[in-house]
Amino acid sequence: MKLLLIGFGVVGQGFAEILRDKSAELQRKHDFAATIIGVVTASKGSLYRPAGLDLSALLEAAASGSFDGYPGAAGLRRGMTALDMIAAGEADALVEVSPTNLDTAQPALDICHRALDAGMHLALANKGPVALGYASLQEKARAVERQLRYEATVMAGTPTMRLAEEALAGCAIRSARGILNGTTNYILTRMENGMSYDEALARAQELGYAESDPSGDVEGWDAAGKVLILANVLFGGSLKLADLDVSGITAISAADIADARAAGQRYKLIASATPDGGSVKATRLPFADPLASVGGSTNAITLETDLMGDVTLIGAGAGKLETGFAILSDLLAIRRATGAS
Ligand code: HSE
Repeated sequence: MKLLLIGFGVVGQGFAEILRDKSAELQRKHDFAATIIGVVTASKGSLYRPAGLDLSALLEAAASGSFDGYPGAAGLRRGMTALDMIAAGEADALVEVSPTNLDTAQPALDICHRALDAGMHLALANKGPVALGYASLQEKARAVERQLRYEATVMAGTPTMRLAEEALAGCAIRSARGILNGTTNYILTRMENGMSYDEALARAQELGYAESDPSGDVEGWDAAGKVLILANVLFGGSLKLADLDVSGITAISAADIADARAAGQRYKLIASATPDGGSVKATRLPFADPLASVGGSTNAITLETDLMGDVTLIGAGAGKLETGFAILSDLLAIRRATGAS
């Protein structure tokens, strides 16, 4: 499978590391071989080579902050745009791992449409297009018989979308509720253990949990984007960010956390989606609530269903390899669904 990557930050690099380290196993167990033929970034430059880029050299160049140090090779082109690479017509799938823009979802949304128009499958970690443009992308993907996959957008590689759309197909899902932001859950957990807010946020950034602009995490907008994605996918809704009741964790002090603890409670940033709306709110939960024991960057979601009652999934919510894995799982799903290799 020949891939174009839009973005090469934490998630893109995590995915490239997985491909570099597991290629033999993926080939043997899943008959799957992927080659990254193009990478476009806003800050490091862009590289394109139809025969494939060398993953170790790509990761090394990215670590230096620029693709200028990527070694020359036959057929290598530098400086192409995403649209140039799509138009070249060589790639089978577009992997969108650029930073999320929840205001317009651009330029990623247009790039995704162009990729579908060109006959490519899509795997997204970028939440913008799925939060704001899901219906039009899904309609086009069906029309052109290409796959639209977005497991990475909610709870990293923990198979939330796969659970809701595939394993629970046949159940009606009535609501989704959980902890959907790794950064804030990490910060709240560390603050409970005495770390300051600033130190905990800095650590979450170092660990690759936070968005490139972490205000979206701590003010609740990252979780709100995930609520929109769940509403779109589970309920076919047309909710907008402005329809949601959103607040984050910035107003919670160390004293509030200590006060909750003395009362046998913990603060958690709880996101919920129903067919009628959604919210993101810091909530005090008693220690006995199962969500209260979900700590660090771990996330959890409870899907309320008609046939199965409540089904709860707990797992990684952020992280380099954890989110890189979500892209791999989407590409393997595309491989199974279409035979593309
Ligand atoms: N910044 C996000 C989080 C990354 O902390 O959950 C995963 O979407």
